[in-house]
Amino acid sequence: MCGIIGYVGKRNAVPVLLYGLQRLEYRGYDSAGIAVIDKNGDKIIVEKQVGKIKDLQEHLWNRKIEGHTALGHTRWATHGPPTIENAHPHTSQRETISIVHNGIIENYLELKEELIKKGYRFRSETDTEVVAHLFEELYTGDLLETALKVAKKLEGAYAIGVISTYEPDKIVGIKKGSPLIVGFGKDENFIASDIPAVLEYTKDFIVLEDGEIAVVTKDNVEVYNLEGKKLEKKPLHVTWDISVAEKAGYKHFMQKEIHEQPRTIGDTITGFSSSKDEKLFEAIKDADRLYIIACGTSYHAGLVGKFWIEKFARIPVEVDYASEYRYRDRIINNRTVVMGISQSGETADTRFALLDAKKEGAKTIGLVNVVGSSLSRETDYVMYTYCGPEIGVAATKTFTAQLVTLLLFALEAGLKKGTVSKPEYKKLYDELLHIPSKVESILNNEEGIKEIAHKYMNAQDFLFLGRNINYPIALEGALKLKEISYIHAEGYPAGEMKHGPIALIDDKLPVVCVIPQDKYYEKMFSNLQEVKARKGKVVSVATEGDTKVKELSDDVIYIPPASDVLYPILTVVPLQLLSYHIATLLGKDVDQPRNLAKTVTVE
Ligand code: AGP
Ligand code: GLU
Repeated sequence: MCGIIGYVGKRNAVPVLLYGLQRLEYRGYDSAGIAVIDKNGDKIIVEKQVGKIKDLQEHLWNRKIEGHTALGHTRWATHGPPTIENAHPHTSQRETISIVHNGIIENYLELKEELIKKGYRFRSETDTEVVAHLFEELYTGDLLETALKVAKKLEGAYAIGVISTYEPDKIVGIKKGSPLIVGFGKDENFIASDIPAVLEYTKDFIVLEDGEIAVVTKDNVEVYNLEGKKLEKKPLHVTWDISVAEKAGYKHFMQKEIHEQPRTIGDTITGFSSSKDEKLFEAIKDADRLYIIACGTSYHAGLVGKFWIEKFARIPVEVDYASEYRYRDRIINNRTVVMGISQSGETADTRFALLDAKKEGAKTIGLVNVVGSSLSRETDYVMYTYCGPEIGVAATKTFTAQLVTLLLFALEAGLKKGTVSKPEYKKLYDELLHIPSKVESILNNEEGIKEIAHKYMNAQDFLFLGRNINYPIALEGALKLKEISYIHAEGYPAGEMKHGPIALIDDKLPVVCVIPQDKYYEKMFSNLQEVKARKGKVVSVATEGDTKVKELSDDVIYIPPASDVLYPILTVVPLQLLSYHIATLLGKDVDQPRNLAKTVTVE
């Protein structure tokens, strides 16, 4: 993971780097650092700190570092623990080159050995440091030319930023496998891992493709391929407001993003309808099988999608963890379609599994949130969720938007195949338009949910149960709680409980039952009784007016009534709020939970 930023321009680079690093902190936050070419251009000043960006900020306080060409990095360690030595930027032996890196250099041991033989001394345990020394070793008098030589030697995935006292007014950015964008300003330019990092300064960008190198000065940007051929790149203009990268009065990004859902669901419905790719639906019409691959929360969206696609489009669907799918003996023919779901569009597991399937002849679809992300460019077709940047590490608004897109995709595919009638489509579509206000009414009960959170915040374990289309919501509820509160939680299909997990139930175990009034209500109700008979504490997510569930539950969170198939978009919302409040009451850092990063660009 890791976040990279680079600045070259008229202002002092340090505040720009710190601002950008804060925006990138979701990508990694175990240590951070900056490298600044001093005003005379003859020295690189490097400052690093273990911890978050605020720790680096405090460390820099009163140090009065000034320079106009600089790099910054926030780390999520892969090679070597979070220490000052391992934090980036890394500098070459003679301190003429400084680099930041996101990704893994897979052949670093080999390169390290070669460099040690040549007399280079290593100061860190990272894979990254070899790149700094290689630049110095191979420097030809031209940073671009050297970058071309270095890139040929590196294996693995990387986005790298380079500065040098040899050419103090320049940044070189290299991209292969990890994201890198270039932002255009007036008398200043930027490189960064993503757009929000520099959104304060510009709305015009180019997104680098794998195998591209950008040479950036204060008033010029040039992009080359690995053969050194200059490329014409089409700039991208975004209309996002900077407020998307601010908390807007909420305590945490996660809370803000949960509350944005009525809007993001609405925008995703409109976005889907106005940018339908007819060719995608032609391709899906002939599909004999659809594989959905994803990780974490996106995988849970895929599990819900399976119900909808099989129901409406009548295509057999298999859902797999991308990291598992990649190394299976896949069966692919020319009628196989593989859909990768990824908020970031940069998750290495999902991207690489999709690329492999594509090579083997599958048609590929990406469902992503980040416009211009790698996955969106690597798949044959792309569908977007319209959420704007999601900063909280725990996915919330992008999950409900993924659900909405999958439902619309299933209905549209069904319509094209003749397995869904026009009136059926219209009925569900019209009802979908009311989902944002239903979500709003759930959010209005935040205080009630907070009280329930208070009651169960000290539990050691949680069990989440659901059936059928709400079973993946039980999985998602458990994942949300685990990742931000560090409480152990398991999600289970309620019908499976009696085959094992029932042994866990005692009077201390809170069991969250997702029990809307749908076709499986009675079955789910029996499961709830089984929990109660063993003295488990039942917290139910039930449909408004359901007094029967209330009698049996210790606590109930109500959601508005809806058609059976739409329930997952509603039932997940109270679970997001429940875990958010449990985690904040426990004093956990919900936006940046320990050990996690928002975008996982390593396998
Ligand atoms: C979600 O809350 C998690 N932080 C994580 O499971 C995430 O969903 C997963 O890493 C996939 O990310 P992606 O959607 O960007 O591919
Ligand atoms: N491999 C580098 C390190 O450990 C970068 C890590 C990353 O991008 O996640 O420092």
